[in-house]
Amino acid sequence: MQLPATSVIKPKILYYGAPVILLTTYNEDASVNISPLSSSWGLGQNIVLGVSTEGKAYINLKRQLECVINIPDQTLWENVEKLASYTGKNPVPKHKQEMGFRYCKDKYAVSGLTPERSVTVKPTRIKECPIQIEAIVKDITIPEYDPVFAIVETEVKQFHAHETIIKGENHIDPTKWSPLIYNFRHYYGVGHELGKTFRSET
Ligand SMILES: Cc1cc2nc3c(=O)[nH]c(=O)nc-3n(C[C@H](O)[C@H](O)[C@H](O)COP(=O)(O)O)c2cc1C
Repeated sequence: MQLPATSVIKPKILYYGAPVILLTTYNEDASVNISPLSSSWGLGQNIVLGVSTEGKAYINLKRQLECVINIPDQTLWENVEKLASYTGKNPVPKHKQEMGFRYCKDKYAVSGLTPERSVTVKPTRIKECPIQIEAIVKDITIPEYDPVFAIVETEVKQFHAHETIIKGENHIDPTKWSPLIYNFRHYYGVGHELGKTFRSET
């Protein structure tokens, strides 16, 4: 098979396909903010997040070192998109205003999602999300070379999953779980299974 030739390009964004997460954090007044993110990755029992230093999530994570990493499936993309043009930060930073962002205090109301009390942290879980991970913040690093994003390291405290996607006692059934993927600013589901790695237990 002949492989395609390559060209050098300069994409403005590097969102080459990662699961969307809905990060819930605790506001000063005990209400809860929801921030859509796609920069996250699991590292053992820790999850690393890439969080803009200009948003409300960052302010909340610094003040109250707790969050819930709620992971929507592909059926929830429109709920995610309802949140996309809002920030919980008031006033809205000028350059975000210019991009069309508006302030929203009640992200649950605007997204049509439902809060559920968490067990180990104060921010609520999002009931509709099939995976809801309660976590605490262990470290926040702002890279000198690009202070626009903070690298937030969290430690998982409790992992909740809808019973419909659990297999056995402690596994997620990948045939039942379909994360929502952010693919160069478009929402995608995942396709059918291609195979599995040699370490898979399911
Ligand atoms: C699907 C999606 C993925 C996003 N990924 C990120 C991300 O990884 N990190 C980030 O800081 N902002 C990301 N954003 C932008 C934030 O959601 C946006 O800045 C929002 O206003 C943050 O809300 P907050 O200020 O209330 O925390 C993403 C937005 C969408 C819709």
